[in-house]
Amino acid sequence: MPQVKLGHFPTPLEECPRLSEALGGPRIFIKREDCSGLAFGGNKVRQLTFTIGEAMDRGADTIIQGAASQSNHCRQVAAATAKLGLKCYLRLTRDNKSVMQGNLLLDHLAGADVELVDAPMGPELDAIKYALAEDLKAQGLKPYVLAAPRSTALAAVAFAWCIAEIHQQQEAMGIEADWMYAASAGGTQAGLILASIALGMKLKPVGIAPIAWDDRVERIRIAANDAAHILGLALQIDDSDVRNTADYVGEAYGILTPECVEALKLLAQMEGIFLDPSYTSKAFAGLIDHIRQGKISSDETVIFLHTGGTPALFAYNEELSA
Ligand SMILES: Cc1ncc(COP(=O)(O)O)c(C=O)c1O
Repeated sequence: MPQVKLGHFPTPLEECPRLSEALGGPRIFIKREDCSGLAFGGNKVRQLTFTIGEAMDRGADTIIQGAASQSNHCRQVAAATAKLGLKCYLRLTRDNKSVMQGNLLLDHLAGADVELVDAPMGPELDAIKYALAEDLKAQGLKPYVLAAPRSTALAAVAFAWCIAEIHQQQEAMGIEADWMYAASAGGTQAGLILASIALGMKLKPVGIAPIAWDDRVERIRIAANDAAHILGLALQIDDSDVRNTADYVGEAYGILTPECVEALKLLAQMEGIFLDPSYTSKAFAGLIDHIRQGKISSDETVIFLHTGGTPALFAYNEELSA
């Protein structure tokens, strides 16, 4: 498949003994996608390896993306396009985190053309991205719009690759995890499910949604099956293969919960690893709760996929310091 080299792979798989002891529970390992190299790391580096790879293979010289104002994806696109010498246009939803901090600051520093727009994420923002692409084409540029479903299917391919890496790391370390926890309502979990089944692994991926989309199980199933098709795997993923919960979102996407703040502080204080406010801290809160409820027993092994997002922490300085 077309690819561009953006990150540092394989990412480490690291054991967290002090954390396991603090939770009185299972062996816990963290797959450090937050150490994936480009611009403070995160899960989008693997995804962009394929999405920007495909864009460049099709002759694009410009990438268009858009999401929330503190989007990790957009920060990674700004950095990746800078590295590859492409033009970058970001159209970001104006929201209560549109402050010159964290990811939004980094978007500007990486030289992206950034505009805040009064449109919610979803079809309205996508329409703005596609209209911009038409304008840029008229100016002689070759734009490529990053958007679902293609971007989500390629994210699933990327996280199938991540599972293949974990398969090798587990063999080398002599471990076989029972569970994997990740913040996802889309392509990341789709790839984890597809590849763990394809490789016959014991590991059961659990997705903790950062946003309570009603159709997230369907989205994940479709992305997994699209990725199976792309990879030539004769596998069919069903809704019953998708373990995903929206129980830890709290009030809304991007709003801190007491549990996610507890999770963030626990990991920082036990292992010196920082989570982010919108995704990984909520996923980690879900993992802690499942351990406390006994859904994961103390003789089992769990891998937490740290999908990054750490720069967004700095846009939450007031809430977190309070
Ligand atoms: C830090 C972080 N973790 C997890 C995710 C979830 O990825 P997805 O739902 O696309 O699988 C994102 C997506 O933006 C992210 O930025």
